[in-house]
Amino acid sequence: VRDVRSAPDAELLRRHFNSITAENVMKATTIGVSEGVYNYGPADELVAFARANGMQVRGHALVWHQTAPAWFFAGDPAAADYRATVQRRLERYVTDVVTHFRGQVYAWDVVNEPASDGSTTWREDSPWYRALGPDYVDIAFRAARAADPDTKLFINDYNTEFAGKRGRLMSIVDAALSRGVPIDGVGHQLHLQLTTPTAAQVEQALADTAARGLMSHVTELDISIYDDPGSCSASRTGCATGYPSYAEIPASVLQTQATRYGELFRVFRRAQNLTSVSLWGLSDLNSWLETFPVRRVQAPLLFDEQRRPKPAFTAVAQSIA
Ligand code: G3I
Repeated sequence: VRDVRSAPDAELLRRHFNSITAENVMKATTIGVSEGVYNYGPADELVAFARANGMQVRGHALVWHQTAPAWFFAGDPAAADYRATVQRRLERYVTDVVTHFRGQVYAWDVVNEPASDGSTTWREDSPWYRALGPDYVDIAFRAARAADPDTKLFINDYNTEFAGKRGRLMSIVDAALSRGVPIDGVGHQLHLQLTTPTAAQVEQALADTAARGLMSHVTELDISIYDDPGSCSASRTGCATGYPSYAEIPASVLQTQATRYGELFRVFRRAQNLTSVSLWGLSDLNSWLETFPVRRVQAPLLFDEQRRPKPAFTAVAQSIA
């Protein structure tokens, strides 16, 4: 969620959800002001709201290339002690943040989006990868486990429902597990398009995770009302034209979306080792998809712009009844 201070959003949360993820305020861009200096205020507020209302909190996300403040990487990369310095900053950050929330966060996305979308295994343009190489994953997970032995530790990525991306992520996971790195589960973001990928593809991703003895969490589910070619997210070209307004989204589109939500939750119900499902937002009033890959009308969630249940909500309710 973006902000628990909105009274109608709080009401919706209390009524329908038992787990909350901070959309942004637990990221290093909010918490990590500078080395050893933290801004916990907004996250503490979210945790207090959750506790007051009997909800649990998923922590998102300790280490992510998009939210990595420059102070982590300050210094001369050619200096003999540069690597050790960045490693120390990472260990300190993970240790302090996980310790701060110990006992209040049931799972952490320790590392977010380490796998490449291309032919390499690793996302090599990550500042973490550039500074520390693949070791950054080991360092972060080991520090998190030492700081809180009870919270579950996740590696989280998107497009795990596609065999290629999943293969790259799982090769990172398998290698880390073989070194004894304490990974408890795989987070499947599940930012889906209107008609792809299929529920069967999602089911395969969950099955591959369970086959490794790992837990799955669905961490960021939403379903776009468009089908875009790959070029849309890669280069903002070829994106589907947006509908002129929210009111003009065809009912048939919302119905297709509802059917997909229903199918997915049936898959979730029967999946092994899937213990948490989170939507990436509360109502269609606020979604990151309004501006990504391009600005256009969106309606990816279960509640509409007036926070009323959509056909998607009904389909989910029916499939888990
Ligand atoms: O709140 C400020 C606003 O005051 C300011 O006017 C505006 C101008 O840029 O920025 C607003 O903050 C933005 C914030 O979203 C709230 O909308 C940040 O700039 C923007 O960077 C931030 O984007 C978030 C993004 O992660 C980067 O952290 C999205 O909300 C959030 O949905 C998105 O979530 C990610 C997951 O963490 C990881 N998986 C992919 C997912 C989608 O990108």
